[in-house]
Amino acid sequence: MNILLLGSGGREHAFAWKISQSKQCSQLFIAPGNAGTASCGQNVAIKATDFEGIKTFVLQNEIKLVVVGPEEPLVKGIHDFFLADEQLKLIPVIGPQKLGATLEGSKDFSKQFMKRHNIPTAAYASFTADKLEEGLRYLETQSLPIVLKADGLAAGKGVLICESLEDAKSELTAMLADAKFGDASKTVVVEQFLKGIELSVFVLTDGISYKLLPSAKDYKRIGEGDTGLNTGGMGSISPVPFANEAFIKKVEERIVIPTVAGLKKDNIPYKGFIFIGLMNDGGEPYVIEYNVRMGDPETESVLPRIKSDLVDLFLGVANENLAEKSFEVDERTATTIMLVSGGYPGDYEKGKEISGFDTVEGSMVFHAGTTQKDGKIVTDGGRVIAVTTLGADIPSALAVSNANAKKISFDGKYYRTDIGFDLK
Ligand code: AMP
Ligand code: GLY
Repeated sequence: MNILLLGSGGREHAFAWKISQSKQCSQLFIAPGNAGTASCGQNVAIKATDFEGIKTFVLQNEIKLVVVGPEEPLVKGIHDFFLADEQLKLIPVIGPQKLGATLEGSKDFSKQFMKRHNIPTAAYASFTADKLEEGLRYLETQSLPIVLKADGLAAGKGVLICESLEDAKSELTAMLADAKFGDASKTVVVEQFLKGIELSVFVLTDGISYKLLPSAKDYKRIGEGDTGLNTGGMGSISPVPFANEAFIKKVEERIVIPTVAGLKKDNIPYKGFIFIGLMNDGGEPYVIEYNVRMGDPETESVLPRIKSDLVDLFLGVANENLAEKSFEVDERTATTIMLVSGGYPGDYEKGKEISGFDTVEGSMVFHAGTTQKDGKIVTDGGRVIAVTTLGADIPSALAVSNANAKKISFDGKYYRTDIGFDLK
């Protein structure tokens, strides 16, 4: 069957790599893809949010399955667009419809969902501009630090952790009265600060049953020791050692099962991935957030550990018989190190030639921000290359990822050499 994958990051290269291994995949197309996805299938120059362009391509190329990598097309309703179209409605889309995607698109919606289904999460209250005074009074009743979250998508910048009441008050005012994050902060969620250590679990669901994918931890800060600005993610490790059997059992019973059942109960159709961001506070899991897609760079560590045929699992999602599909996980540890452009997450230059791919030994190389230019592979984004290694344990896998991270070169290359530092 012909498959179309939407997106262009390291996550999508990992998906393309895994999908292309399936016996059930005849031709794989990636829109728009990157220089790495081009080695797993055919890139097509269509944006992941160009629904009409995607429709034309799908019909011309007899696409029988669409896999959505990033959240934007989902939040904009690509799945609904397919269902509403006579010619597209029988072509399965992996990724939720707009309503389900609201779990990521609106923090207020996802907090209400968790509250309704008794899913453990931080206590909260939501405020709109006309309730600013009430919001400011509420802040006075809260302990520090206080977490403020823009309700809508704000390119990963909409969460503020305020250490003082004054700071919280001025930020809440800026968000509500001065539209600090535009429409995204028309509503603000004020949340209790959760302490502990973060990790993520991933679920694939057909809306009825689910498969619990391997856990992972990502490293968001640019600097070593988790310092400096937030990024899209500088590396990842899977599995997470402290997410032992007892902890995962709690996650499954208190969070995963009620989430899948809650979607069904609320009549929220959901076929796709759920990425659950968690805080582990002394062995007790709390949900920080839901995302309606896989994580990046978590996918680069999670997918290499899945032994089962991913396309077969996707067909299980499409046909609502996921429960019948076998699901096997590699026991080994995967470590991913992200090579980024100098200056990222601030300003950086693009178009730097990347070399050294042929010197890599023992790691998988997933491209993120890369493109082909004049027969060369050049940088085309902040996060450029993910180097993933499977090993017996974290130190041995990391040693190989680190050695290979050194061998790939481009002008301005930067990477963290301490990924996993808190897990050893
Ligand atoms: P989010 O966009 O909801 O993932 O938030 C971004 C980051 O802010 C998370 O990955 C956490 O590190 C942090 N964060 C969000 N909510 C809380 C909370 N209630 N307590 C502590 N940290 C939080
Ligand atoms: N690595 C975090 C994310 O994909 O949102």
